[in-house]
Amino acid sequence: MTEIRLPEMGLVVLVGVSGSGKSHFARRHFRETQVVSSDRCRAMVADDENDQSATGDAFALLHHIVRTRLRRGLLTVVDATNVQAGPRRQLLQIAKECDVLSVAIVLDVPESVAVARNAARADRDLPDHVVPRQRRELRRGLRSLQGREFKRAYVLNGVEEIDAATVVYEKAW
Ligand code: CTP
Ligand code: MG
Repeated sequence: MTEIRLPEMGLVVLVGVSGSGKSHFARRHFRETQVVSSDRCRAMVADDENDQSATGDAFALLHHIVRTRLRRGLLTVVDATNVQAGPRRQLLQIAKECDVLSVAIVLDVPESVAVARNAARADRDLPDHVVPRQRRELRRGLRSLQGREFKRAYVLNGVEEIDAATVVYEKAW
């Protein structure tokens, strides 16, 4: 069982393809107000969580909320795919500006699981190529994510490991 050790205050970045269970995981382990979701931000600026034309505005809003919360000393969890290095870098830069630690939690599920879950969702209508592409992007970034990018990175492999993980908070890092 993986015990995810987090600082009481800092940035937590969830990483995983669509359907990997990030929002589910966030709901289970964190308070609603601690979680900043790119989908929620997209809905707030576009009335539609799937409006891709709103991505730039949605992430500007997400970054603003993350920066504000970190500056105010609040633990902040980013619920977005974060499979690409560019978006992760922007979040890491904000954490650095605010002088707080960054932890990644990677939810790595088999492609078949993500695809089957997404197919059953009323809120998602993803083209077939999206999940495989996101998985390739994730694979490519896994090593630097665990090495250079984050102070700590937890990689949870498969549904059982994800479901069994627990979160504890540590004062000293
Ligand atoms: N789900 C599930 N069992 C889990 C985790 C998720 O049945 N252990 C279901 C959720 O109820 C949801 C779907 O799988 O209907 C996708 O999970 P979600 O947490 O929404 O995935 P995300 O990674 O947040 O996907 P996205 O990036 O598209 O927001
Ligand atoms: Mg989600």
